Order: sequence, then C-alpha cells, then structure tokens
Amino acid sequence: MSEEEHGPSTDMPSFTATLKSSKRIIAVAGAGLSAASGIPTFRGAGGLWRRYDAMGLATPEAFHAKPSRVWQFYHYRREKALAAQPNPGHLALAMFSIPSIRQKMAPGSSFSLITQNVDGLSRKALEQIADAHPELADEIHSPVVQDSMLEMHGRLFDVVCTNRACGHREYNTNSPVCPALAGTEKVFSENEPEPRIDEEDLPRCSKCDSLARPGVVWFGETPWYLDKIDRLVSEADLCIVVGTSSTVYPAAGYAYEVQERGGKVAVFNLDRSEGDQEADYLFLGPAEVTLPKALGLQ
Ligand code: OAD
Ligand code: ZN
Repeated sequence: MSEEEHGPSTDMPSFTATLKSSKRIIAVAGAGLSAASGIPTFRGAGGLWRRYDAMGLATPEAFHAKPSRVWQFYHYRREKALAAQPNPGHLALAMFSIPSIRQKMAPGSSFSLITQNVDGLSRKALEQIADAHPELADEIHSPVVQDSMLEMHGRLFDVVCTNRACGHREYNTNSPVCPALAGTEKVFSENEPEPRIDEEDLPRCSKCDSLARPGVVWFGETPWYLDKIDRLVSEADLCIVVGTSSTVYPAAGYAYEVQERGGKVAVFNLDRSEGDQEADYLFLGPAEVTLPKALGLQ
C-alpha cells in the first residue's frame, strides 16, 4: 500500500473537485479561525487554558462563586473582540455562505457555519462584505445567510439576566460593559492584581436589575441550536473543520459523524489536531491562508 492510501490527502485540486460535487456542506470552526485577528486560542501556543484554569472561569459554578473574577475575564475578552477585525479566513467563510457566490465553487449546495467562537467576527465579516458590496447586501441580510451562521457557544456581546423568571437577553457592545470593569482587562492582559468588584457594580439586567451574566455557553451547559446542528450534521456530505483542537464535545464529534455516514472531512489547522489522521483532506498551515485558497476565494 502506498503512503497516500493511509493518511489524509493534501491535494488541493482534489479537494476543489470534492467541494464542487458536494451538496450539503458544513464548516465546524474553533478558536484558530480567529487567531490571526489577535484573539487568543484556548489550548494552542499562548492559549488561555494554558495560563488559567478553565473550570475557575468558564463554568456556572465559577460564576456563582466569583462573579467579579469571571466578569473581568469576559470583559477582557469582549474588549479584545471589539478591537479585532475579521481575517481572510472569516471573510472566505462569510463569502462562501452567500449562495450566489457559492454557486461558482459548489453549485446547488447548501452551507452552514457551526462556530464555537463567541467573538462575533464571522458576523462582522458578513457585515463588512455587505458594506463593500452593496449589491450583495440584501442577500447577506436574508434569513438564508443570517441563519446559516450558528454560534453554538453563544456570544460575548450577549448579556443575560441570571434571574430565571426574567431571563432577559440583550445584545450589548458597550465598552466597558459597565463602569466598574473599566481597566480590569489588565488583570488578564498584563497580570495586574485583581480588584474585587461588588456584585451591585457588575452588569445588571436592564429589566429587573438582577445580576447579569455573559451570554456564552459554559462547560456543563447545553450549546445552542443543537437540534438544528444535529440535522445538518446528519445530512452533510462535506465537513470542513477549521482551527479547532477537536477536543470539546459535541463539536469535536461532528466530523466523525459525517464520515460515518459516507461524507468527506477536510481539516484546516495550524498543527495536528485530534483525529485528523482520519480526515479525507488535511491542510496544515494558517487557516487565513489555506481556507481562502481552498474555497476559491482569493
Ligand atoms: P483550541 O484553543 O482548543 O484550539 C485551537 C486550534 O486552532 C488548535 O488546534 C490550533 O492548532 C489551531 N490554530 C491556531 N492558530 C491557527 C491558525 N492561524 N489557523 C488554523 N488553526 C490555528 O480552541 P477550540 O477548539 O475552539 O469553549 O476550543 C473549543 C472550546 O473550548 C471553545 O469554544 C471554548 C474552549 O474552552 C468554552 O469555553 C465552553
Ligand atoms: Zn432580569
């Protein structure tokens, strides 16, 4: 048996041909997609979970015990995301999500982006394309495109009431999210000592004044859109995996499920990632370089 029969293919023209004949395409994205925009990853070099204990920052229990610390962490991440710009990887996926553009690379196909990222950069990419190409704006703002972007781990800029009877959710890009958090991003960016902020001074619900929390999905919570995602995964004939270590479930299992039903998997990652030896295609390198090429968008 030759080498190629074992490992994944690295042949771009062959991937392009697969893309062209695929009808139900999904992409599963992770933090590596936003790395080139200056957003730290979790497990890669310089990753957040290499410096901090995830269970002390990204769980409901951590928030309950130390809302001040957890809010400072999310304030730091909000500020980073607010200052960041989409990179060519986000722009390529956003372009690909527009049916009239996608027709050229994958005629008659559907596409959904399932992202674990909470930074909002994939949506920002869509908005930038709409601004730069007014002729595409109506299509971009249609439900077909808007609903094809599934932020399964929630959104940094959602602020949610912790009072279950209220549950008010608000999209809020204020910087800082509340006055008391101003400057506290330095606790995480420059290791400055952590101030203790009283609960009354943390973000509050605008409806009932209860303590509010970041609108993200923490470990132990249920990701968003699971029914829709399960359907998309079960129907997909191509799964494009981008910039994820493929260690956090359920997202980590999607590629495997697609393959099990006879679909193809293509991994785009800087380094080797969990299970990538099983992929049909493996493109190692920065996704902001490999993805625009692979999707025929550069
Ligand atoms: P990770 O930090 O686990 O993985 C990021 C991946 O991106 C690594 O495999 C890197 O090699 C790769 N990478 C880094 N730079 C890249 C680049 N320029 N191009 C391509 N790949 C690059 O992030 P996720 O897999 O997204 O959840 O982590 C999954 C979830 O765990 C997150 O959504 C978050 C986290 O804890 C929660 O907080 C609930
Ligand atoms: Zn409320």
